[in-house]
Amino acid sequence: MGALQVCKAADVPVSSALAVVVDGVPVAVVRDSEGTLHAVRDICSHADVALSEGEVDGCTLECWLHGSRFDLRTGEPSGPPAVTPIPVYQVIVEGDGDDAVVLVDVAATPVPR
Ligand code: FES
Repeated sequence: MGALQVCKAADVPVSSALAVVVDGVPVAVVRDSEGTLHAVRDICSHADVALSEGEVDGCTLECWLHGSRFDLRTGEPSGPPAVTPIPVYQVIVEGDGDDAVVLVDVAATPVPR
């Protein structure tokens, strides 16, 4: 399917998450505290709840239900109760400033940056 446009970059302020659906997959588009955008599966690996409703702290997303924190670069939980990583997807930002748009490819893993 390739990368699909999901939102404007301006729709995701620093340290926040936006819930979108990409090719049928629930995705949280997250901007970390440094301003970098990430995309992860918007379902906790511990139970079926939306991670986009949790808190962004640094480069982690905290599940609001039981508090596991997932690394936005790797999807790895930092501690229980979640033990399984969540999928991390490729994010592409096209354009500059207020016109920049965010694309997510749920078939691709992130390119190291
Ligand atoms: S549902 Fe996310 S840590 Fe339990």
